[in-house]
Amino acid sequence: MNGASPLLEIEDLSVVFHTRSGPVLANDGVSLTLRAGETLGIVGESGSGKSVFCRAILGLAKGEVRARRMAFDGRDIAAMSRSEKQALRGRGIAMVFQSPMSSLDPVWTIGDQLVETVRHHKGLDRAGARRAAIALLDRVGIQSAARRLDDYPHQWSGGMLQRAVIALALAGEPRLMLADEPTTALDVTIQDQILALLTELQRETGMALVLVSHDLGVIAETVDRVAVMYAGRIVETASVRHLFERPAHPYTVGLLGSMVGAAGQGERLRPIPGQPPDLHHLGTGCAFAPRCSRAGDDCHRAVPRIDPAAAHDAACLFPMEAER
Ligand SMILES: Nc1ncnc2c1ncn2[C@@H]1O[C@H](COP(=O)(O)OP(=O)(O)O)[C@@H](O)[C@H]1O
Ligand code: SF4
Ligand SMILES: [Mg+2]
Repeated sequence: MNGASPLLEIEDLSVVFHTRSGPVLANDGVSLTLRAGETLGIVGESGSGKSVFCRAILGLAKGEVRARRMAFDGRDIAAMSRSEKQALRGRGIAMVFQSPMSSLDPVWTIGDQLVETVRHHKGLDRAGARRAAIALLDRVGIQSAARRLDDYPHQWSGGMLQRAVIALALAGEPRLMLADEPTTALDVTIQDQILALLTELQRETGMALVLVSHDLGVIAETVDRVAVMYAGRIVETASVRHLFERPAHPYTVGLLGSMVGAAGQGERLRPIPGQPPDLHHLGTGCAFAPRCSRAGDDCHRAVPRIDPAAAHDAACLFPMEAER
């Protein structure tokens, strides 16, 4: 462990998909720093580049990935050998996806998959790995874990499967968990239980947590700091409190206004007018300009960028805060 370095440093990350209809700029100049044990939410509408960002960190993005720097615990990820990168996945950074079935194989029992993962990370014998797998399932709230270990995925509910996937992610005792929309497919009660579990595990293990969601409500309950993504760029970073009290970017203001509970009783939710931009044709200026009531001529000239080192900053020429 390198105590002086942040846990994760991403500087100027871009991901381009070269498609038949031309290049798609799915991440553009994304910079982000995370300290050990920190919790960060990434929020933005569907298609804003959140999943691409997570995959790029793990070396799983299918597009062309470029970055000035991507480092974990002070070590350059690009310079890691294949085996070091493999060790990074799981033991350094573990990922939980939206759909549990993208991490589980339907033809194997839950236990087989968990035992294999534990053996891979810990080098335990089968009996030891089985005990560790039961302990992990128990830890994520699966009742009668020893008996349920030999079930197949189709025998479990969506909420239980998501718990199993979290157990898989915990198997390598990661220092960072990337949870990409981990509750989106679940109903609200189960969603709250899974978020509470993630919070509990984060506090207990001291791992850092990046929680990705299109739902600001989910993020607000679970993390300390937020990065707002729009059209593949981070447009605002702030503590949760500052984001809610003093949102600076017009897009963030729109997101807050469209949240369930933001409107008064009897009022209707106010969705952000217009559509997210086509990432094939981003143009030269601020990608939010066509939807922004504050846009001026200058907004179309260059892409505004945030200062990634600032505690609270917005990529906007005419931020809301300036008026206060
Ligand atoms: N394999 C791919 N090929 C082409 N475009 C892709 C691919 N994966 C993602 N994209 C594009 O990248 C953009 C961001 O996608 P994604 O990160 O999945 O969004 P989010 O997770 O925020 O909903 C989308 O516009 C999507 O169409
Ligand atoms: S830079 Fe201009 S168009 Fe973009 S969000 Fe700010 S005011 Fe709106
Ligand atoms: Mg996604």
